[in-house]
Amino acid sequence: MEGGIGLLAVLLSGRGSNFLAIHDAVERGEIPARIVAVISNRKGAAGIERARQLGLPAFVFDHDDYPSRQAHEEAVMGVLAETGAELVVLAGYMRRLSSTFVSRYRHRIVNIHPSLLPAFPGLDAQTQALAYGVRVSGCTVHLVDEEVDGGPVVVQRVVEVVEDDTAETLAARILEEEHQAYVEALRKLCGGYRVEGRKVVFG
Ligand code: GRF
Repeated sequence: MEGGIGLLAVLLSGRGSNFLAIHDAVERGEIPARIVAVISNRKGAAGIERARQLGLPAFVFDHDDYPSRQAHEEAVMGVLAETGAELVVLAGYMRRLSSTFVSRYRHRIVNIHPSLLPAFPGLDAQTQALAYGVRVSGCTVHLVDEEVDGGPVVVQRVVEVVEDDTAETLAARILEEEHQAYVEALRKLCGGYRVEGRKVVFG
């Protein structure tokens, strides 16, 4: 995507701390963009409640209410089209996107994952990291392609693993870095970027 991006849609399923970090950064003028939609696939998600309180356009499409993945995604993509969203920001969105969705928004979907990809993709990345015995882990903001946690890397941040770490303590320290990494990534992407092979080139 050449040229700048200004309209963001955030998709979430849970507590929404990354969404809030992004919202705060937008408010502070650190990300030159506007959040035009916050979409949850879970009715009770704390993140969507917070979006409502903040007066942002909030939408819930609980996937259990739809007969198929395709029907659910059509509802989500309907809002993306109506709001003119230019970048789809996955912030703890616990639902795999179909290849139809990914190709409709090729290189315009971004995700954050709590490990240094390509290490430890998928669920429970912090538990995987501790089980492997790595000395550093971290987080990765990446563009989304058809492979789970597999697209081109936008920003990474390193977090040291310490002696007594549990999955919870490591996750908490990684989460602090996630908030900063997502803001940095969106600031860069909103300034314009293109994708060359596996590389994201800014500007
Ligand atoms: C984060 O750890 C993120 O890396 C992962 O899901 C979690 C979402 O947390 N994809 P939150 O809802 O943003 O607080």
